[in-house]
Amino acid sequence: MAIRLGDIAPNFKAQTTEGEIDFHQWLGDGWGVLFSHPRDYTPVCTTELGTASKMKAEFDKRGVKVIAISIDPLNDHHGWICDINETQNTKMNFPIIADPDRSIANMYDMIHPNADDTATVRSVFIIGPDKKVKLTLTYPASTGRNFLELLRVIDSLQLTARFKVATPANWEDGQDCIIVTAVKDAEVPALFPKGARTVKPYLRFTPQPNR
Ligand code: BEZ
Repeated sequence: MAIRLGDIAPNFKAQTTEGEIDFHQWLGDGWGVLFSHPRDYTPVCTTELGTASKMKAEFDKRGVKVIAISIDPLNDHHGWICDINETQNTKMNFPIIADPDRSIANMYDMIHPNADDTATVRSVFIIGPDKKVKLTLTYPASTGRNFLELLRVIDSLQLTARFKVATPANWEDGQDCIIVTAVKDAEVPALFPKGARTVKPYLRFTPQPNR
């Protein structure tokens, strides 16, 4: 069954390129990103894993662990990592799960038979410290993901978990935020001492509270 926002990310035990893990224990108390790759030794995935490993410090800074999954076996993953390091000028620095029986891919509904009945689509799950799924994304195999967008969403999720704000279209860290409609006008000065700008009664902006 499809995984929906707010669901607990299903737990599993798996072999990874950095040893066996229990997923929930591996996540610990922090945030996580789980993303799937259709196959090992494929060109788009090679660039994605190289890009994600070069950006790992940005995920670390936000307290987010990154883990990839591909249905090929561990031996293939290790060989592929050599290619990723060589061709992407990086050193892989997060684990890839081996899922040869596709049990995790099936659990997370990563195989969409009308797209491909064996390989996974490019799924992304952002998981919060409460182990609940905060974002799901599904990309086609032919389109590499935008990892800056994942960081942008994580910035928004972490901000909106702390303050009564939402973030507008194309928002980026440091830009004005929207005061959620549940906040009454009378509460605004105390909650948002940096001020507020009312465009419509339901559309009120405030400078980013933690900047
Ligand atoms: C790729 O990662 O390059 C890829 C994987 C499956 C289908 C098409 C492209």
